[in-house]
Amino acid sequence: TYLVTDACIKCKYMDCVEVCPVDCFYEGENMLVINPNECIDCGVCEPECPAEAILPDTEADQEKWLEINAKFSEEWPNITVKKDSPADADEHKGEEGKFEKYFS
Ligand code: SF4
Ligand code: F3S
Repeated sequence: TYLVTDACIKCKYMDCVEVCPVDCFYEGENMLVINPNECIDCGVCEPECPAEAILPDTEADQEKWLEINAKFSEEWPNITVKKDSPADADEHKGEEGKFEKYFS
């Protein structure tokens, strides 16, 4: 599977949503996650993310992000259409420690 990591937090560009052939993105307040059971590993979302937040599970900090993507994709609503990203998205692009600071 592919996984959304903390680089997405407060950026939420949502270009990923547009390209996923199986609509397996789920939306939280500050970030999106992928449902690992639905992702078909096509990889098209990875280069679309301007924040480079999407990684294959072979590269991501596997255990942590697999757990977060799996858990929250069961709780958050499915998102299939790109919306406007937050007005201050660019200010948070590349910021360090976003999970610790903002994830809730
Ligand atoms: Fe969707 Fe493909 Fe990305 Fe998986 S790898 S989330 S199926 S676009
Ligand atoms: Fe997040 Fe990148 Fe998608 S910032 S919403 S994973 S395009």
